[in-house]
Amino acid sequence: MTGIFPAQSSIDLHRQQFPALANKAYFNFGGQGTLPQASLDAISQTYQYIQHNGPFSTGVNAWLMEEGNATREAIASELGAPTSSITLTENVTVGCNIAMWGIDWQAGDHLLMTDCEHPGVIATAYELQRRYNIEVSTCPILATLNEGNPVEVIAEHLRSRTKLVVLSHLLWNTGQILPLADIVAACRNHPTADAPVRILADAAQSAGSLPLNLPELGVDFYAFTGHKWFCGPEGIGGLYVRPDALESLHPTFIGWRGITFGEKGEPTGWKPDGQRYEVATSAYPLYAGLRAAIATHSAWGTPQERYEQICKLSEYLWRKLSQLDQVHCLKTSPPEAGLVSFQLTNGKPHKQLVQSLEQKGFLLRTLVDPDCIRACVHYFTLPSEIDQLVEAVESMKDEV
Ligand SMILES: Cc1ncc(COP(=O)(O)O)c(C=O)c1O
Repeated sequence: MTGIFPAQSSIDLHRQQFPALANKAYFNFGGQGTLPQASLDAISQTYQYIQHNGPFSTGVNAWLMEEGNATREAIASELGAPTSSITLTENVTVGCNIAMWGIDWQAGDHLLMTDCEHPGVIATAYELQRRYNIEVSTCPILATLNEGNPVEVIAEHLRSRTKLVVLSHLLWNTGQILPLADIVAACRNHPTADAPVRILADAAQSAGSLPLNLPELGVDFYAFTGHKWFCGPEGIGGLYVRPDALESLHPTFIGWRGITFGEKGEPTGWKPDGQRYEVATSAYPLYAGLRAAIATHSAWGTPQERYEQICKLSEYLWRKLSQLDQVHCLKTSPPEAGLVSFQLTNGKPHKQLVQSLEQKGFLLRTLVDPDCIRACVHYFTLPSEIDQLVEAVESMKDEV
């Protein structure tokens, strides 16, 4: 352990707010974050408030609208985006689906994605291909982890009919950050494009872990969730739509939350902002849960401070793992964020090591492509947890 980390006592105190951290060494933030007690309390208090004052009443209904506004505001402030650009969803995948289905596809149009996307997003692209007779292709970004230029790879794969590029901002398998602003610029400057090339970023791993200013990045659609790096409850996520891209993205799932009404309650159009993609009744108490999680992180530090701490800790883990025999970190330079992916080179199965580690209280996961183990550190991970994890990997890697 070194002096680059904050005093252990202050972090210990902060960690006490997360019940899940008490009995294990948690390295699965990219799968799901650990909920602070304040979130659990806020969710339960909101359910009670609704039952006490309604559940369906003029008062509760007006209050729920305010809850939605406050939640879009809290999210927008974390993303550096205007509140009106935020749609509340349930998870990353719903946000990706809103963007992918909302484009006015014509037969022969082209969708480009990278070879590092999540299966749900890939499946959506292929269903679009089947239904609208569009072309779907994949570009080789995985190979740019340690050398090469992802911007050039994407630019080389654009076609005149490319309407949408789908990529992850922070790759879930290797932990590479894609230079989103440069990729957006390359798409905007695509010389032979028939129409604007839209860019959808899957932000499953970046929202809540990277400091963000979405308008500066220029991305059109940014789909994220509250339950991973924000450590909110599962069931609340969101989608950012760049204001200039709003009118060309049509709602696909439609309901009372997204429309305007006439005098007789008839639908008259879309809400003017990101709310047009919201549909109907949701688990509203989760909104307060997510806001409480965001407030817990903000009390510790700014998004920039949290990111810097994540990077110090992931570099610490990466350096220690790199020193082990028969362990190969996928990245040959320090990690750019909180994901550290590594492989055993002794031929032992990764799944079995992960299962054995879990029995000892270390929670990690395997990935299939590339075949590896992924350890995620958050800003409140302890260096001592990292020390213990590396010792456990060292002592168990030959036994499994
Ligand atoms: C890159 C990426 N996209 C999408 C998802 C799916 O997230 P959700 O369940 O919030 O839709 C994940 C979850 O691990 C992910 O890592």
